[in-house]
Amino acid sequence: MVHILGLCASPRREGATDYALRMALEGAQGVSEEIETSMVTLAGKRIAPCTDCKACIRSHSWCVIPDDMRTLVEQLDRADGILVASPVYCMGPTPQLSAFCSRLRAIRDCFPGLLRGKFLAALAVGGTRNGGQETTVAAIHNLFGIRGMNLVTNEPREYMGGRVWSDDAGAEGAQRDTLGMAGAVSLGRRLAETTLIYSYGKQVWAQRQETTNP
Ligand SMILES: Cc1cc2nc3c(=O)[nH]c(=O)nc-3n(C[C@H](O)[C@H](O)[C@H](O)COP(=O)(O)O)c2cc1C
Repeated sequence: MVHILGLCASPRREGATDYALRMALEGAQGVSEEIETSMVTLAGKRIAPCTDCKACIRSHSWCVIPDDMRTLVEQLDRADGILVASPVYCMGPTPQLSAFCSRLRAIRDCFPGLLRGKFLAALAVGGTRNGGQETTVAAIHNLFGIRGMNLVTNEPREYMGGRVWSDDAGAEGAQRDTLGMAGAVSLGRRLAETTLIYSYGKQVWAQRQETTNP
């Protein structure tokens, strides 16, 4: 099985971002019976930002801040593809997602291969039609691309990531944005398809390595 994890970066449960992400994951699920999906939210999680104490760098061990980050990273570890969805806050991702990503610095020294080669797709939900969805998608690409992840964009006419307009009306608002939601669903499908094809490629690669270096 190939596992696609949806990471919702809204501090609100059951809002517009939660809705758009669920629909995108349904799109992913529809690609094949070999795809399984799950979702985790940052809402209600305790995630402090990195303070550059350098404990992880000095000791090559996981971050010393005692909060929910460790459990969340374990979920990233189990995923093959990750669909990160964030509301647009001031034309960028939420501070919750920024704090989360700042803490991923620790994996560079203690689990360097944890995200390398996994696939990442980005979905942004803004209250205004052109309120910074594109800049938020680009920011998410940067935040996760620096961890060695492979970026999945979208279908050719959908450009980069998913961009939904909620009209500040929660899940109902997002649902009304039929064009934006179609793009979110196609993003989920594209992520699942790419991750699945790569998993077949990895199996062939492992077999070839075994034959070449028995
Ligand atoms: C602090 C803050 C900043 C925001 N900044 C923007 C913005 O720059 N552009 C935009 O389109 N919407 C902005 N919004 C609106 C949210 O992106 C929008 O309501 C979104 O649908 C919330 O998603 P949620 O229901 O999943 O929480 C902002 C909202 C908050 C609370």
